[in-house]
Amino acid sequence: MTSDPRTSECYVYITLPGQTAPVTAGKYTLNTNRQGVPTGRFVYGKSYLARPDAVPLDPIELKLGSKVYETVSMKGVFGALRDAGPDYWGRRVIERHAGKPELSELDYLLYSPDDRAGALGFGLNQEPPAPKRRFNQTLDLEKLQAIADAIVQDEDLPAGSDHEQVEDLMLIGTSMGGARPKAVVEDDDGLWIAKFNRPPGINGDKWNSARVEHAMLKLARDCGLSVSESRVTDVAGRDVLLVKRFDREKTPDGYLRARMISALTLLRAEDTHRARDKWSYVLLAEELRRASASPQEDAAELFRRMCFNALISNIEDHPRNHALIAKDKDWRLSPAYDLTPAVPVSIERRDLAMACGDQGRYASAENLLSQSGRFLLKPEDAEKIVRDMEEYVRENWYSTARAAGVTERDCNTIESAFAYPGFRQDEPSNIIPQK
Ligand SMILES: Nc1ncnc2c1ncn2[C@@H]1O[C@H](COP(=O)(O)OP(=O)(O)O)[C@@H](O)[C@H]1O
Ligand SMILES: [Mg+2]
Repeated sequence: MTSDPRTSECYVYITLPGQTAPVTAGKYTLNTNRQGVPTGRFVYGKSYLARPDAVPLDPIELKLGSKVYETVSMKGVFGALRDAGPDYWGRRVIERHAGKPELSELDYLLYSPDDRAGALGFGLNQEPPAPKRRFNQTLDLEKLQAIADAIVQDEDLPAGSDHEQVEDLMLIGTSMGGARPKAVVEDDDGLWIAKFNRPPGINGDKWNSARVEHAMLKLARDCGLSVSESRVTDVAGRDVLLVKRFDREKTPDGYLRARMISALTLLRAEDTHRARDKWSYVLLAEELRRASASPQEDAAELFRRMCFNALISNIEDHPRNHALIAKDKDWRLSPAYDLTPAVPVSIERRDLAMACGDQGRYASAENLLSQSGRFLLKPEDAEKIVRDMEEYVRENWYSTARAAGVTERDCNTIESAFAYPGFRQDEPSNIIPQK
């Protein structure tokens, strides 16, 4: 099939370290040829390159320089730009807002609001707009939750909502990635991602996700991981999880913004299953060793995170659920987020979303330890991390969950996620036959 070739372009803005207002970093062009094949191009602006405080958008690709960068992967969108754009949830809201089923990749970037992850922004004017001053407040959560429910259920918006206001509200938080319903809200401490429970129904939650995710973040912190701060708040009788944004810092002059790229970008991988061979903690550890300002610390942190995910059966630990952030010139592994247990039927073998050792994605102690050297760990140190964490999770998941307000019933539902029998595949006595 052939169609008219199309070119569209936009400016890419960046809020530099220590600043609260954006400057123009460069220009992004998306070209679609007659065969429908998209090519993306990015070039830094001359005045940006002339700045002594200019920083690259990506630690490995898109290095500062006057070269025209070009990509045909990911529909022509560079990883660092795509990470600043919406994902499943945000696209759904934007499509609904625009009244069209599918928009161009550039439209998704332009339509999404400026509360996006990281330090980038997009627009059609060469000069960036002034930074956003007003955000939804935690007090608005009831309204936001009702709108999120309506979007999940594909219903009309709540009766009595002021049309324009609702349109604005709907777009808030859409540029944050992920699939769960969410919004960005502000309180005196700064910006939070509000994650809503899905209402009961066909695609409803199987347990109280807000409380369970809050408990997992606490459990991870108690296991020594660096983790996003979180709390649960009651909104119209329902629990909402608030996760503090680690890429924003409130100051009297506005918000400082950290640059952010996902592990998907660092691995130069794609979202599709075809590109899954690159979804690997081991490869990520190696990339981190190149990109991070503290490779030893970050590789060890990644190892702990991988172990934790195996011990809570977090099989949604795909490369968009890991990120690198740069608050100044240096890039570091971000704190952990989106930690959720799963309860697959098999108790003998569970696979993480990313490869963790010689036996691929197998979430077992032996597999996790098989490549510990590539995480810059001595075998005995790696073994101690695994053993201590396994013991801690087994003994404390329940009390941590209960203290975080997870009900007895939900604890029963998620019980088999923790330190599951197959984790010690080398100890067959652990394998309990399934009923
Ligand atoms: N604490 C945080 N600070 C900044 N960005 C975050 C934080 N937590 C998550 N994100 C970003 O928001 C996206 C969506 O959040 P996530 O918790 O993964 O939601 P979902 O459960 O829908 O996948 C993540 O992929 C990441 O880019
Ligand atoms: Mg996620």
